[in-house]
Amino acid sequence: MKKGLSDKVVGLKPSGIRKFFDIAATMKDVISLGIGEPDFDTPQPIIQAGIEALRRGETHYTSNHGLLVLRQAVADHLKWLYGIKYFAQNEIVMTVGVSEALYLVFTAILNPGDEVIIPTPCFVSYQAEVILAGGEPVEVATFAEDGFVPRIENIEAAITERTRVIFIGSPSNPTGAVYSREFLAQLADLAEKHDLIVVSDEIYDRLVYGVEHVCFASLPNMYKRTILLGGFSKAYAMTGWRIGYVAGPQEYVDAMVRVHQYTIMSAPTVSQYAALSALMIGEPYLQEMLAEYDRRRKLVYTSLNAMGLPTFEPKGAFYAFPDLRQTGLSDDDFCFRLLEEERVAIVPGNSFGFAGMGFARVSYATSYEKLEMALERMANFVRKLNG
Ligand SMILES: Cc1ncc(COP(=O)(O)O)c(C=O)c1O
Repeated sequence: MKKGLSDKVVGLKPSGIRKFFDIAATMKDVISLGIGEPDFDTPQPIIQAGIEALRRGETHYTSNHGLLVLRQAVADHLKWLYGIKYFAQNEIVMTVGVSEALYLVFTAILNPGDEVIIPTPCFVSYQAEVILAGGEPVEVATFAEDGFVPRIENIEAAITERTRVIFIGSPSNPTGAVYSREFLAQLADLAEKHDLIVVSDEIYDRLVYGVEHVCFASLPNMYKRTILLGGFSKAYAMTGWRIGYVAGPQEYVDAMVRVHQYTIMSAPTVSQYAALSALMIGEPYLQEMLAEYDRRRKLVYTSLNAMGLPTFEPKGAFYAFPDLRQTGLSDDDFCFRLLEEERVAIVPGNSFGFAGMGFARVSYATSYEKLEMALERMANFVRKLNG
């Protein structure tokens, strides 16, 4: 028997987050600020809608695109939020979270060697999904002094003959950056000038604090060249339901559905019903969770700065991204020692791309009390480092 694995898979780096949490899991009394998912359970009425769907016998496949009534609700929701109009029939497909949406979009549009420009630090799956689809990720560094918004000239400088896509993720995991309308308008001009597709991961669109989230597809002329990825995991605390969507021009959605029908068939039916309920009745629960995230955000951001770790004020998602460089430790060393000596788990910034080196991701999707305790331990650790 011939043995061997795909070069593409062998070449994938194991996720830094996993490696770190495997170690943390073997220790006692660890407070984890490492998780990228809401600590809240799914709101009860949404769970109830899922249970009722099962009791009604909604235990079968749906159409490959997903339930039409749900796609219509997603379309209505996007119209309500951003004034953008998608046709439920053929411009939206329900997916197994944004994770599957990433797989679909790159598999459907990339040819071998096509380049995808990705501002980093970024969510760990972006580069991997591009590589798995045969493309090449091209990282463009963003900097704390710019609030982790890319410099437009650096994006333009990264464009080559082979560039196919500019990928954006705003609000950002791991930095908490939210791209402004002005920046996105410049990006739109660039996409137009170089005739590029923009794939926009907007999974954190509802988690913004005092700033506007701009849906890239809603900018003038951008609908036709944007593929929008959205989901329910973060806003409605529904990570385990595994439900999200892609919206875009029919030509792209048709291609993605072709991949989806052979790999997934249809997103989980029970989760589609729960997602429908989230769109119908989820708003007050979302607002309640948002207010609590905001309270924690202020605590985390002020405490990190006060202990001497310069931290840019996050405007979205539920992460802060402190700068560790002044401590003299690498981000890996800082995080490993913090875990060993103070039992607090945060994620080394280099897990999110080379531009994250020297930083760490601190998630505030954890209770206020635990955050206070963890921040106290971190402050102790930094004091010890400073001698
Ligand atoms: C920026 C970003 N995109 C996509 C995902 C994947 O989300 P899901 O597959 O649960 O929809 C995550 C999860 O952490 C994320 O942070």
